[in-house]
Amino acid sequence: MPEKDRILVEVNDMCKNFGVTIALSHINLSVKTGEIRGLIGENGSGKSTVSSIIAGIQAASSGTMTYEGKEWEPVTVLDAQEAGIGMIVQEAGTISNISVAENIFLGNYKKFKKGSLIDKRAMIAEAGKALNKIGVTGINPGFPTGMYDMQERKLIEIAKCIYNDPKLLIVDETTTALSQRGRDIIYQIMHNMADSGKTVMIISHDLNEMMEHCDTLTVLRDGMIIDNIVRKDFDPDNIKQKMVGREISGHYYRADNDGYEDQVVLKADCITTMESILCLNMELHEKEILGIGGLSDCGMHILGRALYGLEEVVDGKVILSKDNTVIKNAQIAFKNGMGYVSKNRDTESLELNASIFANIASTGYDKNNVGPFISPKKEKSYVDKQIKALRIKCQNAYQPVSALSGGNKQKVVFGKWCADDADILILDCPTRGVDIGVKAAMYQLIYEMKKAGKSIIMISEELPELMGMCDRMLIMRDGQISGEFFREEYDDRKLIESMI
Ligand SMILES: Nc1ncnc2c1ncn2[C@@H]1O[C@H](COP(=O)(O)OP(=O)(O)OP(=O)(O)O)[C@@H](O)[C@H]1O
Ligand SMILES: [Mg+2]
Repeated sequence: MPEKDRILVEVNDMCKNFGVTIALSHINLSVKTGEIRGLIGENGSGKSTVSSIIAGIQAASSGTMTYEGKEWEPVTVLDAQEAGIGMIVQEAGTISNISVAENIFLGNYKKFKKGSLIDKRAMIAEAGKALNKIGVTGINPGFPTGMYDMQERKLIEIAKCIYNDPKLLIVDETTTALSQRGRDIIYQIMHNMADSGKTVMIISHDLNEMMEHCDTLTVLRDGMIIDNIVRKDFDPDNIKQKMVGREISGHYYRADNDGYEDQVVLKADCITTMESILCLNMELHEKEILGIGGLSDCGMHILGRALYGLEEVVDGKVILSKDNTVIKNAQIAFKNGMGYVSKNRDTESLELNASIFANIASTGYDKNNVGPFISPKKEKSYVDKQIKALRIKCQNAYQPVSALSGGNKQKVVFGKWCADDADILILDCPTRGVDIGVKAAMYQLIYEMKKAGKSIIMISEELPELMGMCDRMLIMRDGQISGEFFREEYDDRKLIESMI
């Protein structure tokens, strides 16, 4: 019998400061073998910080840890890896311009050494086994990692972690980047590990998922542990209240069914893209929130990119109705009052090393001027308004975006496009990784944009959010539209039927 209920990791009185930011304040945490532990809390509450300290990615400012009963002071990730701790990080954890196999064995090439050389063939073969072990097919370990999309790259990271057969696996906000198939792979791994006496820590803003899979939920708020709740006491309202420190109502979504104008603002005229989309027609109307849903590989993310001129359209056209402008590239889209929130925020939507200020202000260069000059005052209020509306958790607007927690980075992307006051906004998974309180604020802002006459396309893998917010919904399957539904007639079952 695998040994369970033995303390595996213990964190004692841990603090972590970044300059004047207190990320963790006197944390005590104890996680056992055979357990699936969830960490839950608002954006910036300290979940990634505490996990990454356990996994040797960064050091605490003070406090101690034990692992398997001994003092635990990892200096690098490799220390942790050797001791049996693996973490799938919240941000991109693979390097683009090296092969999949090289990523899987990064820092660990020595086992493929032949004299002074590395046996790449053996490494690629072994990487293939690592991918097979978690049931992933369709990724070639010899290919450059940059060829693969975010979901596939997350699967590569998972394969890497699992190859090392960890005793403790930490999964930080990974599931929201994955389709159901990817999620199922992770859940299966988590439960197999727990059943065999190993330990899993998972971080996610999806409360249902957390309640379904975790044995205990540790709630963090402002760098402190508020409570540890065991499975039998799980109650969604109570957990939410502990996370935000106040009662919050379950009504995030708009309640009306006010419809939209007849005027078409943007249309795709039988567009075909290189990979996914085949002769797709669609129209977006003035004052419409149009949802696009489907399974993750149905082509909806590519459609969002194509509508904004980021994906090559090999046949057909994307046309702005007001003057028949053809959206051939993103510059044309931007100049003509369109905005786009990408699903891949770190690579496509943010300049990570630049400040929050610079990132948000980047959409306002044509708006914050007085004559030929940029007005610092206008620019400041342009940025501050978003920081406030979205409660971006930062020291000040001049901090680099790289210093923000994952969800707060997402708020910067959203804020940058909200500020832009675009007439047409394409949102690809805008609420990915943001906590429930901010989700509610985002929905409110989207709704206000509609009321102000804007047109919005919302691409999402979360049906409840689409049903809650959209006037109309297009469901995609295999690069084509497989169903159209109107707000008054949404029905889960019919929607799902048209997806599969
Ligand atoms: N490198 C850094 N420099 C400065 N501040 C940082 C840095 N990393 C994290 N922080 C701050 O520490 C706090 C905790 O961040 P952390 O990433 O742990 O939050 P989180 O709970 O994982 O949030 P999210 O749900 O958004 O991922 C935040 O206020 C964040 O801005
Ligand atoms: Mg985080």
